[in-house]
Amino acid sequence: MSSKPNLENVKRILVVGAGAMGSQIGMVGALAGYQVTIQDISEDMLTKAQAALAERMDRNVSKGRMERTDTDAALGRMNYLTSIQDAASTADFVIEAAVEKLETKRGIFQELDRHAPPHAVLATNSSTLGSSQVADITGRADRVCNMHFFNPALVMKCVEVVRHEQTSQETVDTAMGLAERMGKSPILINREIPGFVANRLLGALRTEALKLYDDGIASFQDIDTAAKTALGHPMGPYELMDLVGIDVVHLIRQAHFEETGDPADLPHPALTELYEAGHYGRKTGQGWYTYSE
Ligand SMILES: NC(=O)c1ccc[n+]([C@@H]2O[C@H](COP(=O)([O-])OP(=O)(O)OC[C@H]3O[C@@H](n4cnc5c(N)ncnc54)[C@H](O)[C@@H]3O)[C@@H](O)[C@H]2O)c1
Repeated sequence: MSSKPNLENVKRILVVGAGAMGSQIGMVGALAGYQVTIQDISEDMLTKAQAALAERMDRNVSKGRMERTDTDAALGRMNYLTSIQDAASTADFVIEAAVEKLETKRGIFQELDRHAPPHAVLATNSSTLGSSQVADITGRADRVCNMHFFNPALVMKCVEVVRHEQTSQETVDTAMGLAERMGKSPILINREIPGFVANRLLGALRTEALKLYDDGIASFQDIDTAAKTALGHPMGPYELMDLVGIDVVHLIRQAHFEETGDPADLPHPALTELYEAGHYGRKTGQGWYTYSE
């Protein structure tokens, strides 16, 4: 087999990491007919992922969204392993969705490069790290890219394929084609940029929403109403901050400021106030809005 990636040669997908993202990305692959291995260093996470996916498929069948024969066949195409060597040795395409720590990801990419067949594409699902930061540790930088799914991966259609300077056209074509075969609507991002595209759009909306509120132009509730009733968004920017977590939004903003050094990128004072008070949104019962049980 040629060492150039080719969509037609992709039969087996390896997903590294069995967390919120990895487990569902694996399920999406299996539902699309691929043989999928999910690898995680934690046996416990693998067990939990397997149980959660079976439960989720049961729910989809009982709600009439899927056929039992399809979900059973897909679950039967999934395999769970703790050894990255064994998991990588038969993979045609790898999607890394392990914890968001650069050193961990670099270690994983080194192992993947060592054990995966030469034609295999190594993609990362990272939301913040461009794949060039892991490509240089491999001997196949041309076969490395970002493949960024959205949460929950079983539902959200967008996949951002991001190329770095050395990513080959065959790799881009294979990643875009695979995302389509997985039932997604991939978009191509031509060079690495913090936040890629979707999260940059979201960040711009959030920044403007915070400014309008801070300047006393409108209440945050009314800003949410405008986003929903005029723009057709399913949720307003303040409701979304509460859902994602005020702590997460604050940390993303802080990390962005550290990258740019531009004071305009600092977390907004109203956001910092909620963060410091421990009002993290839905998960604590209080954020912009108050939530009862
Ligand atoms: N959560 C989201 O909304 C979201 C959305 C898009 C992308 N992402 C990206 O997806 C990735 C995973 O996020 P998540 O929310 O699923 O995280 P998570 O914390 O739910 O899961 C991370 C998993 O990685 C495993 N892990 C840690 N070290 C490992 C190693 N060396 N080898 C194999 N597995 C290892 C952990 O055991 C855990 O099961 C991150 O890169 C994140 O940026 C997350």
